Amino acid sequence: MSHFEYRDGRLFAEDVAISDIAAAVKTPFYCYSSSTLIDQYQAMADALAVVNGRICYAIKANSNQAVIRTLAKLGAGADVVSEGEARRALAAGISASEIVFSGVGKTRSEMQFAINAGIGQFNVESVGELDVLNEVAIEQEKIATVVFRVNPDVDAHTHDKISTGRKEDKFGIDIDLAPDLYEHAMELPGILPVGLAVHIGSQLTTLNPFQEAFSRVAAMVNALRAAGFDVNRLDLGGGLGIVYDGETPPEPQDYAAVVAETVGDLDVELTFEPGRVLVGNAGLLVTSVIQVKETATKRFVVVDAAMNDFIRPTLYDAIHAVATVAERSGESTYVSEIVGPVCETGDILASNTHLPTLEENDLICFKSAGAYGAVMASSYNTRPPIPEIMVNHRDFSVIRPRPSYDEILSLDHLPHWL
Ligand code: LLP
Repeated sequence: MSHFEYRDGRLFAEDVAISDIAAAVKTPFYCYSSSTLIDQYQAMADALAVVNGRICYAIKANSNQAVIRTLAKLGAGADVVSEGEARRALAAGISASEIVFSGVGKTRSEMQFAINAGIGQFNVESVGELDVLNEVAIEQEKIATVVFRVNPDVDAHTHDKISTGRKEDKFGIDIDLAPDLYEHAMELPGILPVGLAVHIGSQLTTLNPFQEAFSRVAAMVNALRAAGFDVNRLDLGGGLGIVYDGETPPEPQDYAAVVAETVGDLDVELTFEPGRVLVGNAGLLVTSVIQVKETATKRFVVVDAAMNDFIRPTLYDAIHAVATVAERSGESTYVSEIVGPVCETGDILASNTHLPTLEENDLICFKSAGAYGAVMASSYNTRPPIPEIMVNHRDFSVIRPRPSYDEILSLDHLPHWL
């Protein structure tokens, strides 16, 4: 059930009218539904209970502490890829032992922070990284628990820029080298190797690539065990897709069935790192019309959100469904380009979309903007980062305010010679 629906012609998030939030905080803003977050988490947790899976939410998808805490209260751990994300996860109440540290380029100082904090698992992506982690752990008289992120050479059949499991991608270690890594790790006193990790990409809408990748990982687990190594943990990453525009992604149960079929008999602890599937459909980007501009060939609806606030449409050609905040069903529609005010031709939020006549101050929203929306924003064109709002039943809260222009300008410092 969706928690975003029209009531008496007005779009609501749970029991709060979007237009009331807009009146209170001004557009543009991101609006998240806490009940949707809870439902999505519960659906994933229920499905993965069949394989006794642990969820470490990939906080890169949406790292607002209110979002992390909502999921943490339901039992989620966190998957982080930087010291900043680790600090967010800890600040939001996730214990260090429930955090996994992924990423292809952890710096020495990030490792120092993470080991000192007691982060539970390091997903190592190269021999060089393993050696540095060993040094850092020894310095602190600790032992880092490690899984090796392998690259299974599987095409996820998703957008090129979010595919991570092909040989030519920068991620992971060639799966065939896993025994060499284990061998090497046995000589490192600061490292405890416990298993493998795999993540082949994001927004996967079919199960086959998961099936292929997990099967290759299972075969490697057997090979490692045959060689005498302990493998008691697998981290199967994230990647499950969501509906943006008519896709038919697998249901969590079907995904869990593939997990059970491929690695279910291995007697390993399973960790998952879902991001988008937990938060994507829990968020809207709400924006107001500034102008409608008709040219010889196009009808441009210029809105107050832009590519700096929401980069997915231009970066990945992502299509996000658009809706008017006041219900306008039954009216004639016009093919429109929804564009922002940024001085770039690529500042397009939706192309060839069908909308009724719109005028200044009309509110529209982009759906499924809860994942990789606010977290990927920049302040290009000195546009203030837009606020984030969380709704919970009849209540709503500004979970990140819009900074003032004074705050933004005060971040620049003039050098002494000026
Ligand atoms: N684990 C690892 C190691 C990852 O790299 C990612 C995402 C995830 C988990 C979570 O994947 P998810 O369940 O969200 O698919 N900005 C892009 C998506 C980049 C994904 C990066 N890694 C977008 O807007 O589509």
